[in-house]
Amino acid sequence: MAFRNMLVLSLVFFLYIMKVKSSSVGDKISELPGQPVVNFQQYSGYVTLDENKERTLFYYFVEAQVDPLSKPILLWLNGGPGCSSLGVGAFSENGPFRPSGNVLVRNEYSWNREANMLYLESPIGVGFSYATNSSSYEGVNDNITARDNLVFLQKWFVKFPQYKNRSLFIAGESYAGHYIPQLAEMILQSNSKEQLFHLKGIALGNPVLEFATDFNSRAEYFWSHGLISDGTYKLFTSTCNYSRYVSEYYRGSLSPICSKVMSIVNQETSRFVDKYDVTLDVCISSVFSQSKVLNPQQVTETIDVCVEDETVNYLNRRDVQKALHARLVGLNRWLVCSNILDYEHLDLEIPTISAVGNIVKAGIPVLVYSGDQDSVVPLTGSRTLVHKLAQQLALSTSSPYRVWFAGMQVGGWTQVYGDLLSFATIRGASHEAPFSQPERSLVLFKSFLEGKPLPETF
Ligand SMILES: *[C@@H]1O[C@H](CO)[C@@H](O)[C@H](O)[C@H]1NC(C)=O
Ligand SMILES: *[C@@H]1O[C@H](CO)[C@@H](O)[C@H](O)[C@H]1NC(C)=O
Ligand SMILES: *[C@@H]1O[C@H](CO)[C@@H](O)[C@H](O)[C@H]1NC(C)=O
Ligand SMILES: *[C@@H]1O[C@H](CO)[C@@H](O)[C@H](O)[C@H]1NC(C)=O
Repeated sequence: MAFRNMLVLSLVFFLYIMKVKSSSVGDKISELPGQPVVNFQQYSGYVTLDENKERTLFYYFVEAQVDPLSKPILLWLNGGPGCSSLGVGAFSENGPFRPSGNVLVRNEYSWNREANMLYLESPIGVGFSYATNSSSYEGVNDNITARDNLVFLQKWFVKFPQYKNRSLFIAGESYAGHYIPQLAEMILQSNSKEQLFHLKGIALGNPVLEFATDFNSRAEYFWSHGLISDGTYKLFTSTCNYSRYVSEYYRGSLSPICSKVMSIVNQETSRFVDKYDVTLDVCISSVFSQSKVLNPQQVTETIDVCVEDETVNYLNRRDVQKALHARLVGLNRWLVCSNILDYEHLDLEIPTISAVGNIVKAGIPVLVYSGDQDSVVPLTGSRTLVHKLAQQLALSTSSPYRVWFAGMQVGGWTQVYGDLLSFATIRGASHEAPFSQPERSLVLFKSFLEGKPLPETF
C-alpha cells in the first residue's frame, strides 16, 4: 500500500515537473528591478530549438494591459541582422517600459495597450539567445533564421497553450524585412499541413525588401535633405551608387572608385548626423558605438545611442538578468547587436518583395510603413517597391495617397491597394519609428491590428 502510494506520489510529482518544464509557470516575471506597479503579467525565458538543448532562443512576453486572452499576439523582430528585439524593440520602442537611470518608466504608448507583445532575440547569438557550441554562430543565414523562428513559435505555443487560438501578427523593422516575409511564408507552408498558426497580418517598418531599390534611394534622400552637395549626388548616383558599394564591400572587392565616392559622401554627411533619423541629434558619448550591417562603412554610426546606453546598463545588471531568467553563455555582456554572430551578409541581396507578394496572394494583410526621417532605408524606396508590387498583383488603388491623423496633427501619408496591401509613412519618425514617434506609431499599429483605415480626420 505504502509502496503504491509512493508510486502514485512520484508519478504525480513527475507529471508536475513535466508540466512546469513545458509550461510558462517558471518563466513568469515577478517584477523587473525598478519597474512601476502594473496590472499586466510579463514572462521571459528560453525556448530550446533542438533535442540536445544546444541552441536556445530568448523571448520576453508582455501580456496586454486589458483582457489579454481576447487580444491578438504580436511577434516583434528587430533587424541588424544581429540586433536585439529585447533591447531595441521592447526597451526603446514599443514595450511597456524604458530604462532611465536605475528605474524603468512607463511608456504611455506601449503596444501592449492593443496586443500581447512577444519579443524574440533572434537569430541564435543575439542578446541572451545562445548556442552551447559556438560553431552554431557561423554561417547563419536567412534560411536558418526563418526555420529557427518557426520552431520557436511552435514550441512557444506549447508553453502558452492558452494563446494557441489567438490571432497572430508579426511586425518589425529594417532587416526584419527579410525575417518576417520569410517566416510568414514558412508559417503558411506549415499551416497547409496543419493549421497551427492564425496568421492575420504582417507589418514591415523601414524594411529591406529589395536591396538595390532600397539602398539606392539613399542618395536622393541625402541630397534632398541637404546632407550632400549637387556634385556628390551625381557621383553617388552615376559613378558609384550605394548598392554597388555595399555589394563590393561584402565581397571584399571594394574598388578604388567606390571607396573614393563613399569617403566623400561620408565626409559631407558627417558622423555627427544620425542616419537613422537625419533630424535627431546624436549622443556624443556613444558616437563610437557598434556597426550595423546596413551601414557597413559607417562603423561609428548607430541608432539612438543614449537610450541604448541606458538599456545596455539595465540589461547588464545581475538582478535584472535574474528577474528575466536570462543567462549569459559564452559572453561577458549583453549587447544591443551581437558581435559573435557571423551572418551571411550577402543574403542582404535576396529580394523579399516577392515573398511579400505571396503573402498578399495568400490573403494575409501586409502593411509597409516608413519613419520618414530615416535615410538608411528611406520611404521613397519602400513606396516604389509597394507600388510596383501592387501593379504586379494587379491590385488597384482602393484609397489614394492621403494624409492620416494622430491627435490633431498629420501623422503621415498612406495609400492602400486592393484590400490587403497598404503603405504608410510616419511623419517625423526615425528608422525606429515607435521610438521617436510613439503616439503616431500606436495609432498606425492599432488600425493595422483592427484592419481599419487610418484616421482621415480628427
Ligand atoms: C561543435 O560543432 C561542430 C560542427 O558541428 C563539431 O565539429 C564540433 O565537434 C562541436 N564541438 C563540440 C565541443 O561539441
Ligand atoms: C534557402 O532555402 C531554399 C529552399 O530550400 C534554397 O533554394 C536556398 O538555396 C537556400 N539558401 C541558402 C542561402 O541556404
Ligand atoms: C482552440 O480552438 C479549437 C477549435 O476551435 C478548440 O477545439 C480548442 O479547444 C481551442 N483551444 C483553446 C486553448 O482555446
Ligand atoms: C547602381 O550601380 C549598378 C552597378 O554599376 C548598376 O547596375 C545599377 O543600375 C545602378 N542603380 C542605380 C539605381 O543607379
